[in-house]
Amino acid sequence: MTIRRLPETLINRIAAGEVVERPAAAVKELVENAIDAGATRVDIELREGGVALIAVGDDGSGMSREDLVLAVERHATSKLPDDDLLHIATLGFRGEALPSIGAVARLTLISRKAGTDSAWALSVEGGQLGEPIPAAHPPGTKVEVRDLFYATPARLKFLKSERTEAAAAIDAVERLALACPSVAFSLTIDGRSVLKLPAAGSGESARLERLVAIIGRDFIANALPLDAVRDDVRLTGHAGLPTFHRATGRHQYLFVNGRPVRDKLLGGALRAAYQDLLARDRHPVAALFIDLPPGQVDVNVHPAKAEVRFRDAGSMRGLIIGALRHALAAAGHRAASTPGIAALAALRPADGAATGRLDFAPPRPSPIRLRQMNRIGFHNRRDRRLPPNRVPLTRVSPWGWRGPSFTTPISSPRPATGSSLSISTPRMSAWCSSG
Ligand SMILES: Nc1ncnc2c1ncn2[C@@H]1O[C@H](COP(=O)(O)OP(=O)(O)OP(=O)(O)O)[C@@H](O)[C@H]1O
Ligand SMILES: [Mg+2]
Repeated sequence: MTIRRLPETLINRIAAGEVVERPAAAVKELVENAIDAGATRVDIELREGGVALIAVGDDGSGMSREDLVLAVERHATSKLPDDDLLHIATLGFRGEALPSIGAVARLTLISRKAGTDSAWALSVEGGQLGEPIPAAHPPGTKVEVRDLFYATPARLKFLKSERTEAAAAIDAVERLALACPSVAFSLTIDGRSVLKLPAAGSGESARLERLVAIIGRDFIANALPLDAVRDDVRLTGHAGLPTFHRATGRHQYLFVNGRPVRDKLLGGALRAAYQDLLARDRHPVAALFIDLPPGQVDVNVHPAKAEVRFRDAGSMRGLIIGALRHALAAAGHRAASTPGIAALAALRPADGAATGRLDFAPPRPSPIRLRQMNRIGFHNRRDRRLPPNRVPLTRVSPWGWRGPSFTTPISSPRPATGSSLSISTPRMSAWCSSG
C-alpha cells in the first residue's frame, strides 16, 4: 500500500460531499455568496428540484476576470482579509463552496465587477476548469449549476423526490430571506413563481414584514415579541403561543448573528421552554434572532456552517429558556385577565397590519401525560420559574386541557401591548445593504 497525494478534483469531490449534500445546500451557498457580495436583489431559478438547474443572479459587487479564476479555486476567499477566524462578519469564509460545486456539476459563472464595463464568463465541469471568456452581463453575478452530482452518481441516487428537494431549497431561501429583509428575493421552480419578496427596508418593521411574508400573518397574530439581554448577548424575535403548534419543528427559525442555523443547543432550549405547555409530539413555531460578539461563537464547526458552538453554552440556554418562559407566562396572565380572543388579538402588531385566523386548537397531551397531569391535579404548583407573585392555575381534564393561565393577586394586570421589536444587528445590516 502506498500513500499518495490525491488529485485536486478528487479532493474537491470529497469536500463537496459535506458542503453540497443536496441541491438545497448548493442554493444556500450561492445565495449566501450573493448576500455577502452586497446584493439588493437575488433571483433564483430551479429546475427538477435543482438537479437539472440552479441559477442564482444578483446585483452585488461582481467579479473581475482574475477574481473569477480565483473564486473557483479551493481555499480562495475574499472574506478573511485579516486571517481572523474569530471575527467572521460574512456568511461564507471557507473558500470552498464554488470549487466543491464545480467538482460535482457543470458550473458557469458570469460576472461583471461594479464600476467596470466588461463581463466575463468561466465554466468548471466536473472539476475541469475552462478559460474565462468575454460575456455580456449587467453589474453583478449570475451563477448557473447544471446537472448537479452528474460527476458523483452515488450521491445522485440518494436524493429524494424532486418535490422534496425543491421544498428543502425553498426552506433554505426562506431562512436567508428572513435574515436579510432589506434584500429582495424571487424564486422560480420549473417556471412557476413560488416566492416573491420585495425589499422590506431595514429595522423592526422590515423584519416583521418578512416574518409575515414567510411564516404568515397567523404567526404574528399568535406570537409574542421577545427582547432579552444577558451580558453581551441579545435575543429578539417572536415566539408562537403554545396554542399555535405544529407537527414538526420545521417552523423554527433560528439565527445567530444573522446566520440561519440548525443548532441542537438552541433547538433544545426552545423545546425546554415549551416542555410543560405542549404535548410531546407537537412543536412550537418561533423566529429567534441571537446577536452576540463574534468572538463568543464559533461558526467554523462544520463545512455546511449551519452549526455553531457558543463559548458559554449554559448561559445561552438560560437566556433563551428564561426569555421564552417569561414571555409565555406574561401571555398566560394576559389571556386570563382579558377574555379569550380579545387578549390574543391584542398581540397583533401595533400598526394593525396583521390580521387573520387565530388558531385556538388546544394542544393535546399524550394519554400518559394526561394521566400524570390528572394525578397531580393542578399542574406544577411549586414551579420555581414563576415570579413569586404568580400562581399557576393550569387545569387538566380528560376532554382537553387549557394552557396555563396565571393569576397575580398582587400586581394589577399588565396592559396588552402591541407586538414590538427592537433589534440591533449591526453585522446583519452590514451584509444586507438597505437597498
Ligand atoms: N455572487 C458573487 N458575487 C461576488 N463575488 C462572489 C460571488 N460568489 C462568489 N464570489 C467570490 O468568490 C469567492 C469564493 O466563493 P466561495 O463561495 O467558494 O467561498 P466563500 O464564500 O469565500 O466561502 P464559503 O466556502 O464558506 O462559502 C468569494 O470569497 C467571493 O469573493
Ligand atoms: Mg460562499
